[in-house]
Amino acid sequence: MSLLPVPIAIEAARFASSERDFQRVCDWLRQQCGMDYRENKRELLEHRMRRVCEREQLASMGELAERLERGGDTALQLSVLHAASTNHTYFYREPQVLQFFAQVILPALRPGDLRMWSAAASSGDEAYTAAMLAAQAYGLDAASCGVSILGTDISAVMIEAAEQAVYPASRLSALPAPLRERYLEELPQARLRVAAPIRAMCTFRRLNLKSMPLPFQRNFHVVFCRNVLYYFDRQQQRATVEAIYDVTERGGWLLTSVTEPLRDLNSRWTQVQSGVYRRLD
Ligand SMILES: C[S@@+](CC[C@H](N)C(=O)[O-])C[C@H]1O[C@@H](n2cnc3c(N)ncnc32)[C@H](O)[C@@H]1O
Repeated sequence: MSLLPVPIAIEAARFASSERDFQRVCDWLRQQCGMDYRENKRELLEHRMRRVCEREQLASMGELAERLERGGDTALQLSVLHAASTNHTYFYREPQVLQFFAQVILPALRPGDLRMWSAAASSGDEAYTAAMLAAQAYGLDAASCGVSILGTDISAVMIEAAEQAVYPASRLSALPAPLRERYLEELPQARLRVAAPIRAMCTFRRLNLKSMPLPFQRNFHVVFCRNVLYYFDRQQQRATVEAIYDVTERGGWLLTSVTEPLRDLNSRWTQVQSGVYRRLD
């Protein structure tokens, strides 16, 4: 017989939080990781936190807020950070930016000690896509020895998934067929695994983008920071792109989502085209 606690089921109506408790959890999230849950996302946050409370045997948002504010419960904190984050991603997302990466950026760089960073990597789809494009540009052998890609995310669950590198076929439907055929291995039950040489180019770590200054000893030539800035408030967006600037090589590149323009952030980045920025000083 299992002695594990049985998760309690909490009805949505009963879980609805008071304004004050909702704000306490929002404040904790903003302070911890910059995530900005405004009033119009209240239902979404309540839904996500209800799941955490069921697992953790907490009866209300107020109890959750209290436990978070008290601190010291790393497992609960990680669980809340994972539940609060939106992890949607897939291979070869936003092809216009990736085509610029493949056709302009990679040919302008040389494999050797080429360092790239996928700064909100989720389950690794973006980092592995970049590795496949580098393998296409330089040849698999040259890319394997001369390109390293770091993927980081605040969610430990996502980092574990990225390390596994196993995906349902649906996540790969946007990937051009030649890349799919070359760099993925079929597994049972319509799943695919990224091929070993591509996996070996990528390393994954948990990192909060709010950890400033960013803890890197060597700067990157290319940074992907896509589809995460819009979860932050303006202050955190600006702080993030400025901190990335400081860990990018001169002449290096920042790739964002085309839906996340930096234009109002007064940052040091120079825009090259939609979703593509360069450190020029
Ligand atoms: C929508 S996914 C984007 C994945 C990928 N970059 C893409 O464009 O498909 C956003 C990711 O940002 C992560 N995230 C949110 N806040 C973060 C923070 N403060 N530090 C690091 N990662 C964060 C989430 O856990 C989530 O996996």
